[in-house]
Amino acid sequence: MTTSSQYTTARIRSEFLEFFRGKGHEIVPSAPLVPANDPTLLFTNSGMVQFKDVFLGAEKRANPRAADVQRCLRAGGKHNDLDSVGYTARHHTFFEMLGNWSFGDYFKKEAIAWAWELLTGVWKLPPERLLATVYHTDDEAYAIWRDQVGLPGDRIIRIGDNKGAPFASDNFWQMADTGPCGPCTEIFYDHGPGYAGGPPGSPDEDGDRFIEIWNLVFMQFDRQPDGTLVPLPAPCVDTGMGLERLAAVLQGVHSNYEIDLFQALIGEAAALTGTRDLQNKSLRVIADHIRACSFLVVDGVLPSNEGRGYVLRRIIRRALRHGWMLGTREPFFHRLVATLSALMGEAYPELPAKQELVEKALLAEEERFAETLDAGMRIFDDIVERSGGKVIPGADAFRLYDTYGFPLDLTQDIARERGMEVDTAGFDAAMEKQRETARAAGKFGGGVQLPADLVAQLQPTAFLGYDRLQAEGLSVLAILRDGRPVESIQAGEEAIVILDRTPFYGESGGQVGDTGELHGLDTRFAVADTQKLAGQFHGHSGRLEAGVLRRGDTVSGSVDAARRAATVLNHSATHLLHGALRGLLGTHVAQKGSLVAPDRLRFDFSHFQPVTAEELAEIERRVNAEVRANHPVVIREMGMQEAMDAGAIALFGEKYGERVRVVAMGDSVELCGGTHVGRTGEIGLFKLVSEGGVSAGVRRVEALTGQAALDHVAQEERRLRDAAGLLGGTTADVADKLKALLERQKRLEREIELHKAKAASGATADLAQRAVDVDGAKVVAARLEGLDAKALRDAMDRLRQQLGNAVIVLAGVSDGKVALVAGVAGAVMGRVKAGELVGFVAGRIGGKGGGRPDMAQGGGQDGPGLQEALAEVPAWVAGKLSPG
Ligand code: ALA
Repeated sequence: MTTSSQYTTARIRSEFLEFFRGKGHEIVPSAPLVPANDPTLLFTNSGMVQFKDVFLGAEKRANPRAADVQRCLRAGGKHNDLDSVGYTARHHTFFEMLGNWSFGDYFKKEAIAWAWELLTGVWKLPPERLLATVYHTDDEAYAIWRDQVGLPGDRIIRIGDNKGAPFASDNFWQMADTGPCGPCTEIFYDHGPGYAGGPPGSPDEDGDRFIEIWNLVFMQFDRQPDGTLVPLPAPCVDTGMGLERLAAVLQGVHSNYEIDLFQALIGEAAALTGTRDLQNKSLRVIADHIRACSFLVVDGVLPSNEGRGYVLRRIIRRALRHGWMLGTREPFFHRLVATLSALMGEAYPELPAKQELVEKALLAEEERFAETLDAGMRIFDDIVERSGGKVIPGADAFRLYDTYGFPLDLTQDIARERGMEVDTAGFDAAMEKQRETARAAGKFGGGVQLPADLVAQLQPTAFLGYDRLQAEGLSVLAILRDGRPVESIQAGEEAIVILDRTPFYGESGGQVGDTGELHGLDTRFAVADTQKLAGQFHGHSGRLEAGVLRRGDTVSGSVDAARRAATVLNHSATHLLHGALRGLLGTHVAQKGSLVAPDRLRFDFSHFQPVTAEELAEIERRVNAEVRANHPVVIREMGMQEAMDAGAIALFGEKYGERVRVVAMGDSVELCGGTHVGRTGEIGLFKLVSEGGVSAGVRRVEALTGQAALDHVAQEERRLRDAAGLLGGTTADVADKLKALLERQKRLEREIELHKAKAASGATADLAQRAVDVDGAKVVAARLEGLDAKALRDAMDRLRQQLGNAVIVLAGVSDGKVALVAGVAGAVMGRVKAGELVGFVAGRIGGKGGGRPDMAQGGGQDGPGLQEALAEVPAWVAGKLSPG
């Protein structure tokens, strides 16, 4: 065997793919870390994920054989290795899986034979170092290993259901709690007696000696939510080999972190954090986490407080805390992206393509966490001290989470380092308490909880309002007052009314709920808002204006048509805006929030810098071009897959049913349940009115459409005309006029300065003349009108030069305020102090002052006291010069 590092990870990837290409496999690119439309799975956790539908028979591939190198993430969800990273030699959040597949084509015999050929024939691993495990009942696989491969019986190990339930076994693989699964055979490499640990199935199997390198799964079942196994249409093969482990074996090292790729990352992390000890565990964590975080961003995830975004945030913050432990206080993590991109960019071109976005996303999160990390770590120390060093109380863990942005697992990580535990039950309780407080604070509508028995009793409301705004014969199924069902309400009472059918749109997808009226023979209920309760019942909230409304009554409903019509313009415009943003700024733009109201639209989206004025103008131009193109708006219901094939934009993290509603206008195709215009031309005019930041990496724009947009333009025009009128010109030359005016103002200001200076020097010449002699020192105490502090100081400087041995105090008066300056020069210095002099005068005019012995300043109010004080200055100076 070659135990040299000639076997770079790059070489292993390509030799693997070449080998299987030679066996008739189609080479497919790695799928993203975020599985497309699979709510059962948080992340792509193995190579087979992108083929799930092929196994299930829902999708066919032209070639029944495939191979790839798949990027995988095991953090959060069924397969979660986050807690082990850094503590073991081969756990990762992100790793690469080499895999080959048969979709109802070859089966156990070929799969095992080819694996053996590649490992021992191509890569020349010594056969005597390899072992295999098989599922305890899989005699077929056992026989293939023994008879076809020739592996001695003592190195073929049967593994049963060792995880506490039928089919719960190390040798029965499943993707998630549901989905494709089957028995597997695993190939192990023996690192030799130098390492502790026993073979698989033995009590010390978890040691470091025998390491699983390749898992060959014989996919045969589809696990149902109730646990039953339904046979797949055809038996398949799914194999997975961890690139990092294999590289360690081929490069003759033991820990994954010693392979070429990790050594390069660790080296760079050490340089960036100024760490000398390359064995430091924190470097390994950082090297692991930069891969996970970079590829998550590449695949459309941004740090946030829920779902996938929160997993990303947790991983980033863990990495940052390790940087902090290495003494780094500056952002460093994002600077690793360039190295990673150089190392992995060839295998995954999407990384270099999005390098800038990744760097920005990570830097933004670094800056954000930097604000609380330091303080949080100090708080942690306090907690440790207070808690006696055993258990971190749940309330404290929650405070670290809530105030300092420490995810629970980060706190647990730190606690573990110090031999402590976190009271997670207490943490959950604190979290629940906060949720309840928030719930109690939520009001009407969205905050209303329907009683469970009512939910069980009612049919979801049928929505009629896509094509009409009025309807008759609607049954009142329930009336809620203060959240409780009641039989009837009287005029003047507020309530929520639930009907069997309704033309009223219930707030969702950003679009506000409809308003309008429900009426019976003598009853009239004014609908102030419509909200979806428990996701499926339209709750009409408002006030009964007349009559008595009873459960079981029949009413008609009419939606406020003008309001709905205005809202609809904003909803369709939102789709065009979304498309224009993605077209101009890039497909990293994803909707983060939306408000579609009658008077305006607001749209939040992921983007890392302010949208420039030019970009805004271009977006406005593009949207208006789509408006003028007057595209028909085509709305169709279809299957999810068909919608995805049509390129429909789905909202990240949103759950959709089997059948989805697809709204298309021009190039824009979105999944949407909202109401829309018939043709884009109805929007009339689209006008952006603001752009700003909401949080790190999220921007917000607001816009107007239709009449509101015209009104806005008219108002801006009016303002411009008013300004032009004031400037005595036309709207066309406002800017020129204003520029000329500003220049004139500047010139005038300069002239004023000049005049002031002249006046001051004239005044000082005069003052020098009027100085009185006190024991050989010239004393000046004068009031000067309209001089500010600077002009006073200039005058002071000139007087000190002119007079030589002098004591001077000047009072500049303007607007009833007095600015004082005092100065002492020449031989009297040291005997008379400027600070005292200013204090003397200021004290007489209700002010104060002070400064150095030779120069001081102060101030006060103008009044008769000022003249008196100034008149007394010569005597005051005389008193200082000849005391007693
Ligand atoms: N899907 C199998 C695994 O991940 C190959 O181990």
